[in-house]
Amino acid sequence: MCGIIGIISNKEVTSRIVNSLRKLEYRGYDSAGIATLVRGNINEVKCEGRVDALEKDINKFNLKGEIGIGHVRWATHGKPSKINAHPHSSEEVSVVHNGIIENSTILKKFLEKKGYVFKSQTDTEVIAHLVTEYLKKNSLKETIIKVLKKLHGSFALGIIFKGQNDFIVGARRGSPLAVGYGPNENYLGSDSYALKSMTNKISYLDDGDFCIIGKDQVQFFDNKGVKKNNKVFNLSKEDLNYEKGDYKYFMEKEIEEQPSTINDCINEYIDKHSNKINIFNFPWKVNNFKSIVLVGCGTAFHSCLVAKYWLEQNTSLDISVDIASEFRYRKIRFKKDSLYIFVSQSGETADTYAALDLCKQNKMKTCAIVNVIESSIARDADMVLPIYCGQEIGVASTKAFLGQMLVLYILCTKISFDQKYINKKVYQSKIKNLLSLSNSTKKTLKLDQKLLDIGKVFANSKGSMFLGRGYSYPIALEGALKLKELAYVHAEGYPAGEMKHGPLALIEEGMPVVVLAPRDEHYKKTISNMQEVIARGAKVLLITNKNKDEVISENIWEKIEVDQLDQELIPFLITIPLQKLAFYSALEKGFDIDKPRNLAKSVTVE
Ligand code: AGP
Repeated sequence: MCGIIGIISNKEVTSRIVNSLRKLEYRGYDSAGIATLVRGNINEVKCEGRVDALEKDINKFNLKGEIGIGHVRWATHGKPSKINAHPHSSEEVSVVHNGIIENSTILKKFLEKKGYVFKSQTDTEVIAHLVTEYLKKNSLKETIIKVLKKLHGSFALGIIFKGQNDFIVGARRGSPLAVGYGPNENYLGSDSYALKSMTNKISYLDDGDFCIIGKDQVQFFDNKGVKKNNKVFNLSKEDLNYEKGDYKYFMEKEIEEQPSTINDCINEYIDKHSNKINIFNFPWKVNNFKSIVLVGCGTAFHSCLVAKYWLEQNTSLDISVDIASEFRYRKIRFKKDSLYIFVSQSGETADTYAALDLCKQNKMKTCAIVNVIESSIARDADMVLPIYCGQEIGVASTKAFLGQMLVLYILCTKISFDQKYINKKVYQSKIKNLLSLSNSTKKTLKLDQKLLDIGKVFANSKGSMFLGRGYSYPIALEGALKLKELAYVHAEGYPAGEMKHGPLALIEEGMPVVVLAPRDEHYKKTISNMQEVIARGAKVLLITNKNKDEVISENIWEKIEVDQLDQELIPFLITIPLQKLAFYSALEKGFDIDKPRNLAKSVTVE
């Protein structure tokens, strides 16, 4: 996803803009650029490829300046190229943009008729020329208000103006944008992570806001130009130095961190002395609602699918789950007695944010389960349940997935007990089991001796299947997603019981198939499904859990037995070998593990 940086200072800014762009590299991008004002004139340097290449060009042109904007671009309109890289400049202004301007074609025609010549294929360039046009007859503020009204679609903008060394303009609709506060300087950034190396004092623009940032002051305005005060957050410092440490990849570190992030999350929600779940900010009585709707994308959606099984088994509520990009366009029958839960690691996923906004427009009860507590989804929901797993940099989500499932399980247990669906004894045994989850996770992480070689087989396969029943089915989907996004290998997660209804035709000699068969109610049937695929030549990796009964395992290729744990918590443990399988497959292929091709850590466009 694109990333924005702006700095206005009484000191040189170029190198800090470049360093901050590097903090945004995790979002995924294909080109980069920077523009500064030197003696009031706009100077821009752009390149296709990495920030390192941009830095080389900056040094070659000796680009300086005490006010500047920078951008890493993830192509939406126009192929990845130097000319399409941001910033986009006219004679008067230079603009960086995250988002999509949906009416850019019409606006481009309007501007071309007025004599403007376009150099790029991007929607963003329209903004530079539109601002230039309106500046001819309007004040700065009037120009901003009128231009933003003309733009349809989503944007986070950073704009500098020829001859105006005193301010940078920022604006936001749909795509997040933050302001950072420093000594005799201030900052603009598409997320707090990019600004954390310079400050931990951050404000956020709300949808429709614009801001005028000077060295010594920041002004916020709503879309009508009325001044407003946006809250200043003091961000946590523990993430300030989140680095790889001894690991080669962030993803590797984040997989190994899971025992401690599970502990951190449990410590936030469970009082070990009273053996109770504490969700202090829960504003409703559980009998206020009769149903729960869970919404998310990708891995977050998979955590919602697992939670559906937990909630159906442990509460009297009707539970439904939807992919955010589908939910937001369905004809939803909103119900006052529903609770809408939005799960998102970044808290900035455009589809999930739009689904939340739709629910808020219909005055529904909303809850956000996020990792980034300063994010848009967190700020706009009625209540937030953080997952407390610390910065997750790897684009492929790992520790955040277990964190999402953990918070959903804790919430489910709280609701179940508050509804008196389970008694105190069962409630406390569930809590006791949760307290052993971190240790079981630690043991399961060690079960990776075979996975290095198994990963090579999956990496070089034509395709693979991941099968499971019950709450192992969403984990099968998650395992397939991990392999797809890291090793670029086709992989399909499927309900094990569905294979005979078509996909069995895919099975051929030597095809690697993961079968998730924990010793739950589905175990025997899943083993039968496993035999069906083995009989047709599949190489089966069976993932089950330790048990006194011998595993039915003739003819299987490989087997991994995760720790014995309460059945409901098995989804956490069987996920770990799948994370490692995908990691080793990507290692075998030599791919960029933390930044897979075409992907972004936070998908802030629809
Ligand atoms: C997960 O490995 C993927 N990178 C992706 O599916 C991700 O889960 C999805 O884009 C949702 O992101 P969010 O949790 O930040 O909303």
